[in-house]
Amino acid sequence: MKIGLKERKIHSFKSLSSTNDYAQEMLAKGKPTEGTIIISAAQTHGKGTGLNTWESEPGKNLLASIILYPDFLPADKQFLLNKCISLAVLKCIKHFLPDENISIKWPNDLYVGTKKIGGILIQNTISGHYFQNCIVGIGLNINQENFSESLPNPCSIKQLTGMEVTLKKVLETLDIFIHEEYSNLAKGYIDEMNAKYLQNLLNYQKVAKYKAGDELFEGVICGVSEFGKLHVTVGDKTSAFDFKEIVFLFD
Ligand code: BTN
Repeated sequence: MKIGLKERKIHSFKSLSSTNDYAQEMLAKGKPTEGTIIISAAQTHGKGTGLNTWESEPGKNLLASIILYPDFLPADKQFLLNKCISLAVLKCIKHFLPDENISIKWPNDLYVGTKKIGGILIQNTISGHYFQNCIVGIGLNINQENFSESLPNPCSIKQLTGMEVTLKKVLETLDIFIHEEYSNLAKGYIDEMNAKYLQNLLNYQKVAKYKAGDELFEGVICGVSEFGKLHVTVGDKTSAFDFKEIVFLFD
């Protein structure tokens, strides 16, 4: 991935269905340069993880998709890419909110305390045992002050600091950190990445409340498997959870 936004084209739009969908269309037509960025001020069908949608007031937040070709990474190691991008987005938010408690909520949400400031949607195309391409979709709440009631716990940089930040500055900062973390991944610094992910993981090694099915319980996150499952210990038993199998409960 080339360093610096100046050498790469940023595809910028006023409105798109979804920046991830646009990236998908570009990939269907050709092979855009690695690191190509698509941003849009608004999305009519912004996508979240699973069946969720992603809401954002037009012009207020960063809505970006980045095209990567992590062909050095075996397909069964795809959760490493989640870690790599989560760490890059974490660093970006820490840069703008140096005094806040920022963490990664498994698998790859970005939280300030118990409030969500950003989300990541990675869509991979695998060919055989390796990655063909990867679309990294990032939504970061920057200048939005009011959120719809239906969202459980959103927050933005402006709400926390009272200050506006330009989306250009956020994108430039994010790009630097993505480059840094993605280079670390390509160089094979896996142990360091795993350690940093756990160090910054919300509730890691802490007693906290969860819900799985109809069951409410207190447990301790003790790790994340190679394939991205969350390991939670309750008493002397550790269980592995897939995304959507466990809900974090905040008082
Ligand atoms: C989540 O937390 O559910 C993931 C949200 C990802 C949202 C971003 S916004 C830019 C990109 N385009 C999309 O349609 N989704 C991602």
